[in-house]
Amino acid sequence: MRHTIGMPYLPLFLDSEGRNALMVGGGAVAARKAELLLRAGLLLTVVAPEIRSELADNDRACCHHRRFEFSDLDDADLVFAATDDAELNREIAAQCRVRHILCNAATDSQGGDFILPSVIDREPIQVAISTSGASPLLARLIRNRLETLLPESYARLAGLLERYRDQVKRDLPARSRSRFWQEVLEGPVADLVHGGRDDEAESVLERLLANPTSSATDGEVFIVGAGPGDPDLLTVRALRLLQQADVVVWDRLVSPPIRALIPKHAEAIYAGKRRSDHQIPQGDLNLLLVELAQSGKRVCRLKGGDPFVFGRGGEEIETLVEHGVRFQVVPGVTAASGCAAYAGIPLTHRDHAQSVSFHTGNLKAGELVLDWQSMRDAHQTLVFYMGTVSLPIIQRELVAHGRSAKTPAALVQQGTTPHQRVAVGTLSSLHQLATDAGFEPPGLIIIGDVVKLYAKLRWYRTGADAVDATTGWFDTR
Ligand SMILES: C[S@@+](CC[C@H](N)C(=O)[O-])C[C@H]1O[C@@H](n2cnc3c(N)ncnc32)[C@H](O)[C@@H]1O
Repeated sequence: MRHTIGMPYLPLFLDSEGRNALMVGGGAVAARKAELLLRAGLLLTVVAPEIRSELADNDRACCHHRRFEFSDLDDADLVFAATDDAELNREIAAQCRVRHILCNAATDSQGGDFILPSVIDREPIQVAISTSGASPLLARLIRNRLETLLPESYARLAGLLERYRDQVKRDLPARSRSRFWQEVLEGPVADLVHGGRDDEAESVLERLLANPTSSATDGEVFIVGAGPGDPDLLTVRALRLLQQADVVVWDRLVSPPIRALIPKHAEAIYAGKRRSDHQIPQGDLNLLLVELAQSGKRVCRLKGGDPFVFGRGGEEIETLVEHGVRFQVVPGVTAASGCAAYAGIPLTHRDHAQSVSFHTGNLKAGELVLDWQSMRDAHQTLVFYMGTVSLPIIQRELVAHGRSAKTPAALVQQGTTPHQRVAVGTLSSLHQLATDAGFEPPGLIIIGDVVKLYAKLRWYRTGADAVDATTGWFDTR
């Protein structure tokens, strides 16, 4: 790395189409750089005694299988000294300097003039990252992080803006333009593009352009699955929409670290949903979403797990459809997937279970009316949501309908969080085991032979699991 006052390198984007690039070297580094050069439209000549096949086979690169000669520099606009011979790279760089040709050398100490950044390509958007040679690995890491913040849809969004640029210039006075673009970028037009609905986005943009003072626009509801608790399990889209929301309506099952991501500017409304303590009745909640959206707000309806798995997302959407409110749905990691993964219990397994089914353990008037007959198969994993309280009924009915009382069974509490606890026993022992260990709702129940795998596969240790030692499946030390 160079030590200068101010920036060690000047970042610039070169109009590279049709320029001549010379690559000296044909190994892995040369091939990686060559790929970038070809993507940027450079006319590439490669000189090396041996050239990797992916480069040699590329019709767009002109390859010479021989040693480098100084005359190769004659027509070059840019040179890449990428051989594994440090001395040769240094000589090429020195010769380029004499001829005023910009040269990129394999390492910083070999005297090159420029470095190639790590690039995020969302054409026409390009983001170049450099650590000024300090650590290419760090540059790649930063790129990976930024990539998650820049979904591919940004490329389409940029394309849409480009198409309307001239028209906006023509139709709007200079003073309103930046406000217009801001509304496009921070409002439903961008949301729709990110949601893959480009045609609708274009219509909204045209409407806005025809009537720029309307301030676009109706609101929208994002029905977002927040996953089972670990904030790292949020999807990229969930996080983006959450950050854009004017109002966030959240459920009790949304974990505190995810609630902490609700932006400061947004109004947060608690929708409740404790067992038998529905803070806002579902019907009122559905209408609240409609009202908020109709007042022009972007509403994020943040729900635990996945909105379409015991999440009543369907009912909320039905009301939105009835009132003509625009919406999008973002899936989340459902509790079954999250808890099973973090408890080390695969829901299916070649040797133990060929299917899995999800059930509700929610009691209606003290009853649990389910198709118990369909749960008899010993090779089927059963998952019960909302079943902690009804566990004795679940156990009784399953045994009465043919599942062995010795069927392995687990209860996962606060799955995927640092407070996760797992109770592991059998159909006959699980309820007592969990009660003795102080397990409390909500919890997720997994029943079937796959539960035995917990003994071998548990990996996320939070320290307070309860295990029925009489099952004999595992060493309880
Ligand atoms: C109303 S349902 C919502 C399910 C949610 N939509 C989903 O896809 O996970 C609530 C039930 O999900 C389960 N649940 C959700 N998050 C959980 C977690 N972190 N640990 C254990 N169970 C969880 C519990 O069975 C709880 O009673």
